[in-house]
Amino acid sequence: LAPRIDVVSIFPGYLDALDLSLVGKARESGLVDIAVHDLRDVTTDRHRTVDDSPFGGGAGMVMRPDVWWSAIEATGRRPARAGATVAGASTEGVDADPREVVLLVPTPSGARLTQPDAHALAREASAGDVRYVLACGRYEGIDARVTERAAGDPTIRRVQEFSIGDYVLNGGEVAALVLLEAVVRLLPGVLGNPESIAEESFEGDGILEYPVYTRPALWEGLAVPEVLTSGNHGAVERWRRERALERTARRRPDLLPPLTVTELSRRDLAA
Ligand code: ADE
Repeated sequence: LAPRIDVVSIFPGYLDALDLSLVGKARESGLVDIAVHDLRDVTTDRHRTVDDSPFGGGAGMVMRPDVWWSAIEATGRRPARAGATVAGASTEGVDADPREVVLLVPTPSGARLTQPDAHALAREASAGDVRYVLACGRYEGIDARVTERAAGDPTIRRVQEFSIGDYVLNGGEVAALVLLEAVVRLLPGVLGNPESIAEESFEGDGILEYPVYTRPALWEGLAVPEVLTSGNHGAVERWRRERALERTARRRPDLLPPLTVTELSRRDLAA
């Protein structure tokens, strides 16, 4: 059974990008089973209402817990087939997916999604005993009782609220796309050359990647660093390591480990 991911949104069109490129190919070849659903398909009123004003007052609208819960439950009642859309009455009676659910909720108030998180999700997904439900909220968010109810549900392994960065988007759809792209490319069989992962930013010891170059060797008066054309593999390795460390120190010092006591006292002795 391929890793199964259900995405629920009021703008399923945002997720059309999942048909393209690497993720699109992975879906086509059955390496991952992604289904996108319109939240409004589980509504029963004439206006297909998904939101209401916040208790306690304040600006904006909050997404209704009953609508969201119906949508989350409906994902498990559907047959596992790629590209399937929607839930609701028409799916009643279809065999339930027996896998435990991990509910993934994009929100700026979640923990920041990192490369180790992406690896952990890819590993868990390929173990085969869970499926993911990605709940994309809009407006001021989803009524907090949905994650509370989910966390107490025996069929739900975990609720994972995640943020893709310290800025506010209009909804979870783009963040869901980010998570999916980060995770799907790590699933077994998706990347042509899995070794390429090891060299990337945030891999290995979690620092940034070194700069890369290709032909022409001289372009706009700019030459490729000589060491890269030297044929000296050891020198190339050292050069790349230095550039990676230098870049990380300049751009993302937060990714570098703090000094240890040993290093600090060595400094004291040297002073
Ligand atoms: N929804 C709105 N902003 C978001 C963010 N930064 N990360 C994840 N989900 C979001």
